[in-house]
Amino acid sequence: GATRLWGGRFTGGPAEALARLSVSVQFDWRLAPYDLAASRAHARVLARAGLLDADELGRILAALDDLESACAAGEFRPSVDDEDVHTALERGLLERLGALGGKLRAGRSRNDQVATDLRLYLRERVRGLAGRLAELASALADQAGRHIDTPAPGFTHLQPAQPISFGHQLLAHVQALLRDLDRLRDWDKRAAVSPLGAGALAGSSLPLDPAQVAKELGFDSPAANSIDAVADRDFAAEFLFVAALVGVHLSRLGEEVVIWTTPQFGWVELDDAFATGSSIMPQKKNPDIAELARGKSGRLIGHVAGTLAMLKGLPLAYDRDLQEDKEPVFDAVDTLELVLPAMTGMIATMRVDEERMALDAPRGYTLATEVAEWLVRRGVPFREAHEITGKLVVICTARDCALDEVTDEDLASVSPHLTPDVRSVLSVAGALAARMTPGSTGPGPVSDQLATAAGRIDRW
Ligand code: ARG
Repeated sequence: GATRLWGGRFTGGPAEALARLSVSVQFDWRLAPYDLAASRAHARVLARAGLLDADELGRILAALDDLESACAAGEFRPSVDDEDVHTALERGLLERLGALGGKLRAGRSRNDQVATDLRLYLRERVRGLAGRLAELASALADQAGRHIDTPAPGFTHLQPAQPISFGHQLLAHVQALLRDLDRLRDWDKRAAVSPLGAGALAGSSLPLDPAQVAKELGFDSPAANSIDAVADRDFAAEFLFVAALVGVHLSRLGEEVVIWTTPQFGWVELDDAFATGSSIMPQKKNPDIAELARGKSGRLIGHVAGTLAMLKGLPLAYDRDLQEDKEPVFDAVDTLELVLPAMTGMIATMRVDEERMALDAPRGYTLATEVAEWLVRRGVPFREAHEITGKLVVICTARDCALDEVTDEDLASVSPHLTPDVRSVLSVAGALAARMTPGSTGPGPVSDQLATAAGRIDRW
């Protein structure tokens, strides 16, 4: 094998079964641009160390540029014999430079190369994902702005609980996404460490300059420990956790959209462009985006568990098991890049039936807490107030009527404390307006919350 990087001490080529198991180029080829960028930085550091003269450096950099264009144009492709992206690109360099191409491998190993490539790839893609996440947060915030004064029932246990502003509900999802944005930003601080210079695991006897390489590649610093540099996949595991948490947040939002769009709820209608039909039932309009967001969170969760399980028994430094880090990372990136824009479009274009929601807001006796708290303000201990209100609910349930539809006599029969002016608190608008403390569902605090959230989204 002329293309293998490790032929010297071997007499024959690898067995077919080994080659098939070992090959990763079918999925790691996407690291090619990052591997080339790292190669440029490495070539410069070799030249500064006096290991390449100016002419050699110039020819190597030109060949790397040419190889990069050939890759981008699809003219250079990995062959069946290329074990991984590093092998394929070295072949491309040797094709262009002959023996000179072999000089670039001095002082580095695929172990520090692959860890560097994956960090470079992921840092770039995470910036893109954060942008997509901010767009979804922004679409939710825009809808929230239209529905600050739209009452809806809030739920616990998916049972009607208390009236809320629908905008407040949407902003709850925004808060989760803002935390995810913070997580991604914070992740980048730890990911911004360059493994290059670690070599296979022990560093190099050549006078390399890892700090300069790190700087050139946009990292904050070189790795402090060459063994850790090639063994550490925290950046992958931590990214996968954040991706899974984003997935879970999208899934919970998706689940609510699924519920809101049922005819039984009828709160939300999806735009035709963001809903699907049925092949047999002509009346159907299905929330497939919300369901796929919910469904795909499963694979994102699986990638965290799979990667941690892969890592847990590995002795330091590099082990070939680590090659299994890439597919979960790539799939998590691809999955979120598919799901986020679809969710954003669905949320931005959904239509809210405010009347239907307003009708539902008091249903299921969501104003019962108002009665209890009205009694408390009149000096009744909450325990007793709770009891009295419960009895009132029993009467209303028997009559199939709302809390404010019982007679004055009914009120008096439940408790002498229940005078007719309790009706003053039995409006949804009143219940919302009464919630003025920061973070509450009243119009004032929801407006404040929206302004703060919008500012954080813009600053992202
Ligand atoms: N394809 C390998 C990986 O993804 C590159 C590093 C291989 N190093 C080695 N010593 N076999 O991890």
